[in-house]
Amino acid sequence: MPKTIIVSNRLPVKISKTDNDYNLSSSEGGLATGLGSIYKQGDNVWIGWPGVEITEQQDKDTVTKQLKELSLVPVFLDQEEINQYYEGFSNEVLWPVFHYYASTYATYKQSNWDFYQAVNKKFRDVILTIAEPGDVIWIHDYQLLLLPALVRHEIPDVSIGFFLHIPFPSHEMFRLIPWRSELLEGMLGADLIGLHTFDDVRHFLGATTRILPVTSSANIIATGERSIVVESFPMGIDEQKYASLPLQDDVKHQVELIKNNFRDGKLILSVDRLDYSKGILQRLAAFELLLQLCPECIENIALYMIVVPSRDTVPQYAHLRDEIDKKVGNINSIYRTMDWSPIHYYYRSFPLETLSALYTTADVCLVTPMRDGMNLVSKEYVASRVNNDGVLIMSEMAGASKELIDAIIVNPNNTGEVCRAILQAINMPLDEQKKRMIPMRQLVAKFNIRHWVKIFMDRLKEVKLMQRSLQTRHVSNTTEQSIINRYSKTKKRIIFLDYDGTLVGFRSAIEQASPDKELYSIIQKLTEDPANQVVLISGRKHENLDEWFQHTDMYLIAEHGSWFKQPGTTWHRIAGLSDQWKHDIYPLLETYVDRTPGSFIEEKTYSLVWHYRKAQAGLGELRAGELMNNLKYLASDKGLQLLAGDKVLEVKNMDINKGKAALTLTEGKEYDFVIAFGDDYTDEDIFKALPESAITIKVGSNISAAKFYLRNPQEVRKLLTSFTKQHVGQDSRILQD
Ligand code: UDP
Ligand code: G6P
Repeated sequence: MPKTIIVSNRLPVKISKTDNDYNLSSSEGGLATGLGSIYKQGDNVWIGWPGVEITEQQDKDTVTKQLKELSLVPVFLDQEEINQYYEGFSNEVLWPVFHYYASTYATYKQSNWDFYQAVNKKFRDVILTIAEPGDVIWIHDYQLLLLPALVRHEIPDVSIGFFLHIPFPSHEMFRLIPWRSELLEGMLGADLIGLHTFDDVRHFLGATTRILPVTSSANIIATGERSIVVESFPMGIDEQKYASLPLQDDVKHQVELIKNNFRDGKLILSVDRLDYSKGILQRLAAFELLLQLCPECIENIALYMIVVPSRDTVPQYAHLRDEIDKKVGNINSIYRTMDWSPIHYYYRSFPLETLSALYTTADVCLVTPMRDGMNLVSKEYVASRVNNDGVLIMSEMAGASKELIDAIIVNPNNTGEVCRAILQAINMPLDEQKKRMIPMRQLVAKFNIRHWVKIFMDRLKEVKLMQRSLQTRHVSNTTEQSIINRYSKTKKRIIFLDYDGTLVGFRSAIEQASPDKELYSIIQKLTEDPANQVVLISGRKHENLDEWFQHTDMYLIAEHGSWFKQPGTTWHRIAGLSDQWKHDIYPLLETYVDRTPGSFIEEKTYSLVWHYRKAQAGLGELRAGELMNNLKYLASDKGLQLLAGDKVLEVKNMDINKGKAALTLTEGKEYDFVIAFGDDYTDEDIFKALPESAITIKVGSNISAAKFYLRNPQEVRKLLTSFTKQHVGQDSRILQD
């Protein structure tokens, strides 16, 4: 039975050694706690690092056996790998850059990168020992960005999902990393890429389309080989678990103990891993300000601050720990009274039951990270409030703030605002607390961890189906052979060829995309065969086609059908068309050229084209959208059509299109072989207009009315070349006959 293989750097349990024994305990961090409660279904397995260096083979075997019982498979890392891959590259490059701390904390070392690559390969090798046909591989987080492509390379057809648990930064941040292209290429090995928020999705698409030669349409990235879907899936928690814990006796008992300790005071809770991204020092500053400004708070409030040890072998984390120690000591020493301390600071982790007792008791939960992919602590607090009371203060920089909108939302950099939020929270009437807490509890209950896994996995299935349906239409060897067979058996053929993007690739300057020797030779051989009518059908100006192709024996159609020329004759234009509309449209396009450096207008007889291939990435698309909106009404009044092509926006007479032009050549003629190649929107008109028996081929794998697709102009040329060879072969057979 197919299984899901979850892969993350850290397993949901970690190993520690006591005397001669290895103990297992739960790992901290959102990824492990979130998925930890649900991965054990069917034959599913989870591959990851058990959290310590184990050197002896015998010990590795013991641990492997212990983990196997929990459906876990270890990837053992030696100390050097831990130093360079985990601490070095993952936590001193990727973590700071992705959390917008590049300039403060990121260090780019070649050897760290080398180890990052090597350890990703190590994970791949373990996957390969386990994966079976039909399995789904779900890779998690920033430590394994290269892994999707490494696995794809070995098992091309496998379903791979990837989820990033931390924010994806803006392109401006991401591009600082020396190995940015390799990282993105690694991620694009997946079929579905999940991120927590829509902003992360935007940033990822922005970075990918700027850094790599790929295009995206909405949230689908086309690499030429596969279409990859990028979507936001905000992670949830095991809500039922957190909502039922407060009803357990042991938790109730702990709640009593905490309450006795605090009597009538207000308890403010914060729970974080030790991390500079969590804004712990800034939060302490806000709490200190509150103590300064609010004398009534003295002896009446307490901050219960849990910091879970994490990565403290990384220098910045060790330094942060010292700073927190100092700051807490400082505040307590100033404000403490004989029987009251403002801050109860714990640098350790707690069992789930104690956490639940704290969530249940705390009047306020203070979650103020400077950046956080999601933040599950906030959701756990909400789920634990079974009486619908309590107040959540939430940083707008955490992914969870996009969902938990009824919290008091703060900017964690604004000390005054955080301080005021705490005051507001401790004084909030019960009614208002409930009004805010109820919708948040409903949301956390609905979008729970099971829901998250389900929608991710369902989407991955859909993506795979979409890819496969496209793949079946790719001109495979068998399809190619049957097309060639049909070609060789027929006597009266017509071959429609679009030019840009079909016979040649795109260039930043339109005049640069001129035909090369190979193309001329293919055209010549095709046109030599008297059975062939070869039609070049392009949106280009007739002067341009004339310059390049007048000496060939092709039928030329320019400007989407406004101009045509039979071999050996002169150019003609379609009669009765008006170009008066240009007087109104041209000045409007000019305003866009003035505002968009790198863009320009191309004037054709019956159309105007605004080109933005050389404009700043992103700006061109933005302006094209704006222009499209501006032109919409004007165009329908004047009988014009707007065509959004590849980095161009064309305005032309509605009466002309390539489909109509193609029909005038085929209607009433007894062609026994009709084939059309095209790559863009305008070619769709040909695909739709031609009879059912025609072979229609789209170049590039986007949704199309064509029956088949080829990946690029090289594949088109290869097929056309096979036609020409067929022609020679056929002749020789005829001669032999
Ligand atoms: N946590 C834990 N032990 C503790 C305190 C917290 O396991 O003593 C858990 C907490 O319940 C939460 C996770 O650590 O599920 C922290 O996840 P979050 O998404 O808030 O932050 P991350 O650590 O992933 O940055
Ligand atoms: C965050 C990351 C996880 C990581 C966790 C704990 O939640 O997204 O990938 O496992 O922190 O960090 P650690 O370095 O201890 O694994």
